[in-house]
Amino acid sequence: MMNLIEKLENTRRLTKEEWLKVFRADEAQKEIIRQKACEIRDAVYGKTVFIRGLIEISNYCKNDCYYCGIRRSNTCASRYRLTKEEILACCREGYELGFRTFVMQGGEDGAFSDSLLCETVSEIKKNYPDCAVTLSVGEKSRKVYEAFYRAGADRYLLRHETANSAHYALLHPPELTLEKRKECLFHLKDIGFQVGCGMMIGSPYQTEEYLAEDMLFLQELQPHMVGIGPFISHKDTPFQAEENGSAEQTIFLLSLIRLMLPNVLLPATTALGTLDEMGREKAVLAGANVVMPNLSPLSVREKYMLYDNKISTGDEAAESLAHLKQRMQTIGYEIVTARGDHKSFIK
Ligand code: 5AD
Repeated sequence: MMNLIEKLENTRRLTKEEWLKVFRADEAQKEIIRQKACEIRDAVYGKTVFIRGLIEISNYCKNDCYYCGIRRSNTCASRYRLTKEEILACCREGYELGFRTFVMQGGEDGAFSDSLLCETVSEIKKNYPDCAVTLSVGEKSRKVYEAFYRAGADRYLLRHETANSAHYALLHPPELTLEKRKECLFHLKDIGFQVGCGMMIGSPYQTEEYLAEDMLFLQELQPHMVGIGPFISHKDTPFQAEENGSAEQTIFLLSLIRLMLPNVLLPATTALGTLDEMGREKAVLAGANVVMPNLSPLSVREKYMLYDNKISTGDEAAESLAHLKQRMQTIGYEIVTARGDHKSFIK
């Protein structure tokens, strides 16, 4: 085991068979891996944690992913779409709180047009030239991604969900394919975005072999950010009776991703915080270095329910930043106001 970890540290890659062996580490070995991940993160980014203000701009979605609470077939979901003015008001509030990255995330909402998104991005960049803007609005053509980039968007999040196409087909309806998802990710990278991909941990039908394939895909894409969180069932989806993923496995994978991609921006996700009250702390102590508090208007927060019991208030809320700062200080980390670019993007 430890020679495999040494190989990972020296070459930043393992074969599929080697990943499968690493996944079977015992508790003592996992603890060593966790410590090494922390050392690497500290060496690259210091004992700091970056914050992103998350604005959930729309929960309309034309897609029908089997796991997701805002899938189009979920008629129980109460739908909303923020206006440009509402989004700008979120940024104003966020800027005062100390946020220097705004993440606009939403379902694939045809009525939130690409041109309106571009206008919103350029207005945010005009008002806050010192801030980074991240988009997370799904699959678009290369032309549209280029327009987003020209409008000033700096980063783009698009989880690949699983790197195995048979597994992808078990999580999504036939009109969505892994091939298309990967193509989008490579376009985004090529255009010049800082790109985030990621997968759910413990999603239905996931095997260790599929997770090993996820690691190989991360190695290939070399994303700037990787968002991983446990799968959590949603009561109004086809996966309502499926078992949730595990917080422990998610945290272990965070460490392994840090070892493979030393410079990566790695968030402690909301899904992890939902399953485990101490999830954010445990994630940071396993190599994560980003938290993304919710800046959406209070009136819509309950509606962006991707999975059951998704937290949106308490320490998940941007307004509780002071408390989050305190919690990070308790474990020896400091929340900073910096934009928090990937190391390769710092001029
Ligand atoms: N459990 C956990 N994560 C989910 N997501 C969507 N539905 C769920 C769920 N039930 C994640 C997906 C998506 C991101 C925005 O939220 O990975 O890419």
